[in-house]
Amino acid sequence: MNIADYRREYTQSGLNRADLETDPFRQFERWFSQALKSDYPDANAMSLATVSEDGKPSLRTVLLKGFDAKGFTFFTNYDSDKAQHIASNDQVCLLFSWLQVDRQIEIRGTAKKVSNAESAEYFGSRPEGSQLGAWASHQSQPIDTREQLMGQLEEVTERFKGKSVPLPDNWGGYRVIPESIEFWQGRENRLHDRFEYRLKDGAWELRRLQP
Ligand SMILES: Cc1cc2nc3c(=O)[nH]c(=O)nc-3n(C[C@H](O)[C@H](O)[C@H](O)COP(=O)(O)O)c2cc1C
Repeated sequence: MNIADYRREYTQSGLNRADLETDPFRQFERWFSQALKSDYPDANAMSLATVSEDGKPSLRTVLLKGFDAKGFTFFTNYDSDKAQHIASNDQVCLLFSWLQVDRQIEIRGTAKKVSNAESAEYFGSRPEGSQLGAWASHQSQPIDTREQLMGQLEEVTERFKGKSVPLPDNWGGYRVIPESIEFWQGRENRLHDRFEYRLKDGAWELRRLQP
């Protein structure tokens, strides 16, 4: 198989200005609920792009855990690489790729830590194994062996035996407060539909972009 010949046409549907909500969060809600209903695994998985202090970009997947008119929330380790990037540059980008339905959504904005109460509430809702995992793993730090990681897990399991696992100081959420949200629907002959909502003077403007 020649990779240069590997392609498909995007013909599932189109996107018209008249189909779109005036509020991008409502439009997101509509597409997100459709993605959840499809067989898509981890429909809430999104790529998060950050830029390091010295200007180097990086990408990783995180899970969307909530959204509303304030923004899009995910949870992570506050000492991780991504958190260090955000500490020096809060400009981030999120990307949902729902290729089964020929769609992607790109969100650009600023990342802000959520309140401790919000992080504690979400942390408390996680399975105990994930709570202990958050304590056990010094995310993004090197470690020699998996056995060492399992040793760290044993140590925290012992420490919190018979107690509820508290929120670690270095763990919590970020909310991405969007400045632009683009909805992309694949179309035939690569003439895709793209609509971008941009925040201007506190109101959302909508424009069509060329594919
Ligand atoms: C499907 C999937 C979901 C993930 N969800 C999260 C998440 O919600 N939070 C998180 O910190 N890492 C999550 N990860 C792991 C990250 O992609 C990444 O490896 C980790 O956060 C370390 O990133 P960093 O070193 O750039 O900070 C997920 C990975 C995958 C593949």
